[in-house]
Amino acid sequence: MKRILIVMPGQEALGSSLLARTDFQAGVIELRRFPDGESYVRVLSDVRNAEVAILCQLHQPDDKVLPLLLLVSTLRDLGVRRVGLIAPYLAYMRQDKRFREGEGISARYFARLISQQVDWLLTVDPHLHRIHALSEVYSIPALAMTAVQPIAQWLRENVTKPLVIGPDEESEQWAARVAQAADCPWEVLTKERFGDRDVRISLPHVEQYTACIPVLVDDIISTGRTMLQAAAHLQAAGLVAPICIGVHGIFAEGALAEMQAAGVTVVTSNSIPDISNQIDLAPLLADGLRHLL
Ligand code: R5P
Repeated sequence: MKRILIVMPGQEALGSSLLARTDFQAGVIELRRFPDGESYVRVLSDVRNAEVAILCQLHQPDDKVLPLLLLVSTLRDLGVRRVGLIAPYLAYMRQDKRFREGEGISARYFARLISQQVDWLLTVDPHLHRIHALSEVYSIPALAMTAVQPIAQWLRENVTKPLVIGPDEESEQWAARVAQAADCPWEVLTKERFGDRDVRISLPHVEQYTACIPVLVDDIISTGRTMLQAAAHLQAAGLVAPICIGVHGIFAEGALAEMQAAGVTVVTSNSIPDISNQIDLAPLLADGLRHLL
């Protein structure tokens, strides 16, 4: 069966890397705005009976989701056999409960919307916290790969004597596994969040590691507060400025510039295109595709 990968705008580098590692051919589409701002979608490749995968960058998803859904409908009209979504960063996973009365549980609604449209989903390290598995909210085959091995490989190639540190309890799942894969020690700090930008880190016991390079590892860097507070705490404890590795660099409101100004080194995967991308997820996604299809 013919396999076609359609790369949506913004994910070209990862798309090329993925095409080079799979038997998918590049699909060609035309995607633009009508003068009134509505989306125009045209599929130029022959997709009849094809297995189609759409690689779509879902950071700041609201502008991207409608063109994606229009594309999926167009593909179905043109007779694709199946269409799946590769979303290396899976949006809308963090509003996973009703924190305040009247709020929507967006993670569930978004999952329902996507499940109604595509036949399968492939992603990397979705923010699974109160939702423990994608299958709790996605009703289609949904495979979550983890960037643990690519991060560990980056560490082995770039850092001598790393100490992997999870900036909060939620990050323990990555910190422990990255450290194990990179064969280095690890610690987890405790974090309390008092507001969007008010995060306090406490109780590190890392003084014994002064000869190590601290490497903070988390799934998401958004405002950068978690990383910055952890970095300040580590430096106060006598460690050097850390390397901050985020699988997904969202970098809300100038967070990257703020982190760089604070003297930390920021490294992310290419799930969200950014100058801090140093970890290529294409090999991981190619494995995921082999597993799913
Ligand atoms: C939280 O649960 C996540 O794992 C990250 O720690 C968090 O999203 C980072 O957010 P920020 O960069 O805004 O502190």
